[in-house]
Amino acid sequence: MGATADDAAAPPWWRDAVFYQVYVRSFADSDGDGVGDLEGIRSRLGYLELLGVDALWLTPFFTSPMADHGYDVADPRDVDPLFGDLDAFDRLVSDAHDHGIRVTIDLVPNHTSDQHPWFRAALRGGPERDRYHFRDGRGPDGSQPPNNWTSVFGGPAWTRTPDGQWYLHLFAPEQPDLNWDNSDVRADLVQTLRFWLDRGVDGFRIDVAHGMAKAAGLPDLDPAVVPVRTGAHAHPEADPRFDNEDVHDIHRMIRQVVDRYPDTVTVGEIWVETDERFARYVRPDELHLGFNFKLALTGFDADSVRRTVENSLAAVADSGVPPTWTLSNHDVERHVTRYGGGAAGTRRARAMALVQLALPGVTFLYNGEELGLPNADLPDWALQDPIWERSGRTVRGRDGCRVPLPWEGAPPTFGFSTGDRSWLPVPAEWAGYTVESQLEDPASMLSLYRHALEVRKTTEAFAGTELEWYGAPPGCFAFRRKGGGLICALNTSDAPVPLPPGQILLASGPMAGEELPPETAVWLV
Ligand code: GLC
Repeated sequence: MGATADDAAAPPWWRDAVFYQVYVRSFADSDGDGVGDLEGIRSRLGYLELLGVDALWLTPFFTSPMADHGYDVADPRDVDPLFGDLDAFDRLVSDAHDHGIRVTIDLVPNHTSDQHPWFRAALRGGPERDRYHFRDGRGPDGSQPPNNWTSVFGGPAWTRTPDGQWYLHLFAPEQPDLNWDNSDVRADLVQTLRFWLDRGVDGFRIDVAHGMAKAAGLPDLDPAVVPVRTGAHAHPEADPRFDNEDVHDIHRMIRQVVDRYPDTVTVGEIWVETDERFARYVRPDELHLGFNFKLALTGFDADSVRRTVENSLAAVADSGVPPTWTLSNHDVERHVTRYGGGAAGTRRARAMALVQLALPGVTFLYNGEELGLPNADLPDWALQDPIWERSGRTVRGRDGCRVPLPWEGAPPTFGFSTGDRSWLPVPAEWAGYTVESQLEDPASMLSLYRHALEVRKTTEAFAGTELEWYGAPPGCFAFRRKGGGLICALNTSDAPVPLPPGQILLASGPMAGEELPPETAVWLV
């Protein structure tokens, strides 16, 4: 899949790519242990090709004690036996490329696992201590944390070690934060990047890309401007834990390495509050792309969606990087549920799928959204997200959006596993969501996604990066892609409205004459 001289001037492949996020634990389990794995993904490449995605983003499959399901990495340059081994990884990349699908992987530079050899050596008092943030505590006996920072998963961001010092972890205690002022930390990341690039990966999704650098001196945060919140959320500029100036140096360093490998891409997970702060991460020598979570935070309301779209386009307008769009991922509630669940949630999710895929730029789909999966209501005993315990069992966490995919057949795992269990239980009532039950049904969510991806890829109407908005009745909008002329109209009201003129390419629900029914979106040319 390397670049040829002929396409040297062509826009990069990722400029309007559809990425598919594979939550590796939950995609397909080939060895019957109830946890998804690399061979499982490889066995389903035919499905992904049929679906029509351009690239995968694989969540962490590296050696890990799994305190945060792989986002606690003990060896960033090996595969955890739970998921396979390096040979399985190589086979997956090579077969994915044969299917015309690129492979990007997660990179977790903000922290390691507490079982990483560095951290274990640090605990023993070795010089590795400087690769993390160890500090004396406050108070006469040092029994108070060094500052008032809280963890994103709840509770203090510091844990005391047996020798009396404290170490920093912005997430779980099993995820000690790395000290990015230490040159070993930088050198090691370069090694990790090259390791995977040499194995043929097409890029990286960078976890907590707004993290890594901390405010000098680790000053207290001001609770009046930095509210204590648990889980994924945008951080204000005044938050000393995130979005500090030195982080940009790290992104420049990453870019220099990645740029030596043609056709590769980096996308950062960036939780900041303003467009100005966001734009700083996608300057020409930093990340190629930044995740934009705004659609995932917007309700099903045409005015709000339009504002979100305009705002997202404006956020990257000056940088010249494509906008990105996401309705769901492994950290947020699935959007069918967010839009109200049931038949209404599904109808709205179908409409928003067409809106998202009509927009210029890059789309990130989250595995299972093409099946219309809702968030699962899991019983307390099944919950595994560290957020649940860390919050004193007040915040249920992210397990509900991470339930294994139902492929075919019957409970308990609907073909997810070759065994008879899965790490999170698949709801017994998901028979109607399986790939098998949807594949041949033209009215299914899966058929809508397949059709939409095909039309998007093969129709000239999707050319161009600018939008023109039409006047529309309340609760509705319509925009036109200025280059290719695609029109996308959305009706979030509860009454039918007149359709804009044009020939219908695809509709998210049943159409009635010259009208756009409630909670429906349509593509026209
Ligand atoms: C990111 C990941 C999330 C993980 C956290 C800590 O936000 O998306 O799943 O828990 O980083 O690594």
